[in-house]
Amino acid sequence: MIDIHLQSKSSATMHAGAHAHFVYATEDGAQTDIINSLNSSVNQILVARKFKANPGEIISVPLATSADSYIVVAGIGKKNTKHSFCIESYRRTVAKVIRTAISLQVPTITLHLPDHALFHCNIDYLIEQTVIISQIATYHFDQYITDQDRKEHRIQNLFLITDQSDNPSIIKASKDAVIIGKAVNQARHWIDTPPLDATPFFLSEKAKEIGKTHNLTVTVFNEKQIIEMGLGGLAGVSRGSDVDCQLAIMEYKTQKPNAQTIALVGKGITFDSGGLSLKPAASMETMKDDMAGAAAVINTMEVIAQLKPNVNVVALAPLSENLPSGKALKPGDIIKFYNGKTAEIKNTDAEGRLILADALSYAVKHYKPDAIIDIATLTGACAYALGPYFTGLMSEHDELVAKIESVSKHVGDPVWRLPMTNDYKKAIISEVADICNIGDSRIKAGAVTAAHFLQHFVGDTAWAHLDIAGTAFDVPNIPYFRSGATGAGVRLLIGLVMQWHKEN
Ligand code: BES
Ligand code: MN
Ligand code: ZN
Repeated sequence: MIDIHLQSKSSATMHAGAHAHFVYATEDGAQTDIINSLNSSVNQILVARKFKANPGEIISVPLATSADSYIVVAGIGKKNTKHSFCIESYRRTVAKVIRTAISLQVPTITLHLPDHALFHCNIDYLIEQTVIISQIATYHFDQYITDQDRKEHRIQNLFLITDQSDNPSIIKASKDAVIIGKAVNQARHWIDTPPLDATPFFLSEKAKEIGKTHNLTVTVFNEKQIIEMGLGGLAGVSRGSDVDCQLAIMEYKTQKPNAQTIALVGKGITFDSGGLSLKPAASMETMKDDMAGAAAVINTMEVIAQLKPNVNVVALAPLSENLPSGKALKPGDIIKFYNGKTAEIKNTDAEGRLILADALSYAVKHYKPDAIIDIATLTGACAYALGPYFTGLMSEHDELVAKIESVSKHVGDPVWRLPMTNDYKKAIISEVADICNIGDSRIKAGAVTAAHFLQHFVGDTAWAHLDIAGTAFDVPNIPYFRSGATGAGVRLLIGLVMQWHKEN
């Protein structure tokens, strides 16, 4: 993990492997005041290479004065028509700077922050976003690579240069951002961990460890208890697997009296083979990522325990494998959930909604939350509808949707709403049970019909569903991500909880 420091010292006096500067584009080229302040040979190279300061344009120049130091100049583009720079474009440029420093194999990097006024935001926010994205950009899953030569270079220190480095609110913003960035990367690490190791038990133990470290109440139910309590969805999906399913519950209580309670529910299928409705090999390849929702809510709780928002939060992670065997759930089976409703199983590959149904019912009954947000790699249909760049957001609660959309923009974890209307509700009626676990094939919209299935388990509670099937894993062409897990939803859930009692 990269260590982050705030510094006001001019970095020229500091020894660092890479000194990064951000430059914006003007009508007649790149911003001159910063460039002129750089040493003259760098200046000449920028001119010679026709540096325009386009967004993400990067030039690194070795310093004549020390063989192992570089100046990295990064373009942040022109102001857009809305009179400010796009913060997402800045995030990507920061990521490119970090990736450049990694490839230069420097131990330390100084980042000279651009003027926050350019982005029409306050400096706390600019620093927060810089710190979070710097950490996300350094993530690399190499735990299982034994050849030391193939391990990626790790930058040890990042110095953020700002003339307000002793401003307490900036120091706090940076500290909080370190906690958030770590949580995103830890979620990614669990998702990338092979399913042989990242089992339901592994994840429930992680939840317990977090509870111990940060004083959260954590309860874990094992398979026997889950069967006895009547969580027929979770128990049913786990039938085909040789390892126990688990239900992990983490509770955070605020000191604030009469605070609201939010429930977060995350799908935790540690491997999804499809069960007897077996997936084709190519679709099964990445199915270790099917616990990304659970990873998101558990890691969100670790952050909440430290940042202490003024709202109560409970996270529930139903954890199971979905495998075929002589004991596995069969198409045609009917199961009964914790809230008493029954479902006909037509396809054992639609297992996420079955384990979520029990967790949602449990949350509603035992915590009476003011709002529930669930997050799940739920449907291939969502990935086809929105691709890898937007998480599907489904809800009939416009106020909750507005809140989520606004936080999503703020933290840079994009969502797009899909409709939930009465017409779709009919898609999951069953002839032999209350509902069916797959939608009527004529109604198609698989992401939406899955959401309507979940709706049967939330009662009247304000509820929103996040489908991260497209965004959780292997998102191409974004400089701060690489192949493997992205941590989709982690920043969003943290932001949502932290900003719960603020106005939109
Ligand atoms: N875990 C999958 C959804 C998924 C697909 C996640 C691709 C990430 C990438 C889920 O359990 C599943 O198999 N859904 C089925 C539902 C269908 C049988 C109604 C799907 O989307 O094909
Ligand atoms: Mn499945
Ligand atoms: Zn699944």
